[in-house]
Amino acid sequence: MPSQPSESSGTSQPTGAQPGTGAGTGADSGSENPNLDFAGTTPYEDYVKADVLTHLQHPLSDDPGEMSFLVTTQVMELWFTVIVHEWTVASRALRADDPRTALEALKRSVYEMLSLNASWEPLAHLTPAQFNAYRGALGEGSGFQSAMYRRMEFMLGEKSASMLVPHRGAPRVHDELEKALHEPSLYDEVLRYLARRGEDIPEEVTGRDVSQRYEPHPRVEQVWARIYSGDPGSELLRLGEALTEVAEQVWRWRNDHLVATRRAMGSKQGTGGSAGVAWLEKRARKNVFPELWTARSYV
Ligand code: HEM
Repeated sequence: MPSQPSESSGTSQPTGAQPGTGAGTGADSGSENPNLDFAGTTPYEDYVKADVLTHLQHPLSDDPGEMSFLVTTQVMELWFTVIVHEWTVASRALRADDPRTALEALKRSVYEMLSLNASWEPLAHLTPAQFNAYRGALGEGSGFQSAMYRRMEFMLGEKSASMLVPHRGAPRVHDELEKALHEPSLYDEVLRYLARRGEDIPEEVTGRDVSQRYEPHPRVEQVWARIYSGDPGSELLRLGEALTEVAEQVWRWRNDHLVATRRAMGSKQGTGGSAGVAWLEKRARKNVFPELWTARSYV
């Protein structure tokens, strides 16, 4: 048995010990036990804000299963936030002609998306009765109103000004989303970078109105087909593959969402007012980085 700090050591200071410095109370002093003495909140709390984070759960029903639904949704919002961060890093790096930093950020985002997608498990097996136990309490609330998810979609090129409308009443969220609408998407930055590298990306693509949904272009498809037919270790091919991984994980998130929804509510209308599964099926069919997929037929 390792020796434990005495109960009183949580509050009393050994001679010469400074609260929070570790002096005399932790590993640095030769003890095998962690520090217990902090003047205020712990450094962990100061960094992680765990106290804030773990008190943001306010279920709307008495059903014990709602906590799982709420926390899964919050966890996904956090992953959306990290992924938007990574794609922002990647976009900036590409703009600065720094593909290495972009690739690193894209690869991190793929691992994060694997975790995001694994978070479907607690909701992937709900029966309609289990979901109904708290569905009514959600009112008109729907993931459709997630601003961070919308930013992800905008960064993928799936732009739509009408998606700002639900956020008119929340100025900060609305401003961030409006900025994202008018910024080049991650894919716009990729295509502009390819053009600067001498690839035959037409001007109507590099100079397009970036607030509009990206539409595939045959010459972009030809560029990817050429890249994929060339040196298998080339930087541009690795960029293409990192983007393909991203696209695949987005597609998997959409499909896991679709299947979870089909299991939990069949073909009922969504709480957000859409046709539910039928609407999500259409959304799931949308291609991410379209030419990266179609170009494969010509390699
Ligand atoms: C079993 C649980 C879930 C069901 C039954 C469900 C159902 C639905 C439905 C029917 C829609 C269409 C819009 C509407 O009419 O409401 C929708 C949209 C959406 N949901 Fe869920 N959802 C579930 C869990 C989640 C979770 C955990 C998230 C995570 C944030 C989420 C995020 C979204 C997003 C982002 C959209 C909009 C998709 C888009 O714009 O393409 N959903 N959901």
